[in-house]
Amino acid sequence: MRSGGKLNLAALASGNGSNLQALINECEAGRIDARIAIVISDNPDAKALQRARKHSIQAVALEREKFGLREEFDSALADAAEEAGADLVCLAGFMRLVSPAFLDRFNGWVVNIHPALLPSFPGLKAQKQALDYGVKISGCTVHFVDEGVDTGPIILQSAVEVLPDDTVETLSARILKQEHLLYPKAIQLIAKGAVKPGSGRKAISHY
Ligand code: GAR
Repeated sequence: MRSGGKLNLAALASGNGSNLQALINECEAGRIDARIAIVISDNPDAKALQRARKHSIQAVALEREKFGLREEFDSALADAAEEAGADLVCLAGFMRLVSPAFLDRFNGWVVNIHPALLPSFPGLKAQKQALDYGVKISGCTVHFVDEGVDTGPIILQSAVEVLPDDTVETLSARILKQEHLLYPKAIQLIAKGAVKPGSGRKAISHY
């Protein structure tokens, strides 16, 4: 649990891990009162694991196929995060839903970053959903995770303009730049005790 006044984070990532990198950088620079205790991936080839190792962070691959029921996989994920002393679980491009049992293990201290302005465009391919719909503004959202798909209480959001000639790639890149600023900012609010998961729709905020 909290060591030296710092919040212990477990980061779950399936792919590139650029959001993870932003968190690592801000923790190392001392701009977040937290440390990343472990990075867990469902993909052994995830660049996120390489990024963790490069920064001497424990890196663990847990492949879904190696477990029977979803509950067994989720319980192994939670065990790994708990053994690393995690106070807060950060989903950083983790492309799986976590179960209610997983959320219970962390009493709701689980956050996610999503590449759209929720409640618009939850789920997969959020940037494509936004382009297909024709919105002029999209963005990113950091939220506490609940049992739904991207439905939990919102912590912070950042808006990004959608340009007429945007492709999924150009819009995703513009949103990702904002994600790298927003996620560390949200984690620092939690680390300094300014934001907590509440029981209702709204996160408890004092800032
Ligand atoms: C990010 O855009 C993140 O918001 C998104 O995946 C990308 C991961 O990039 N997450 C989701 O869509 C979750 N539903 P990264 O691996 O470079 O951080």
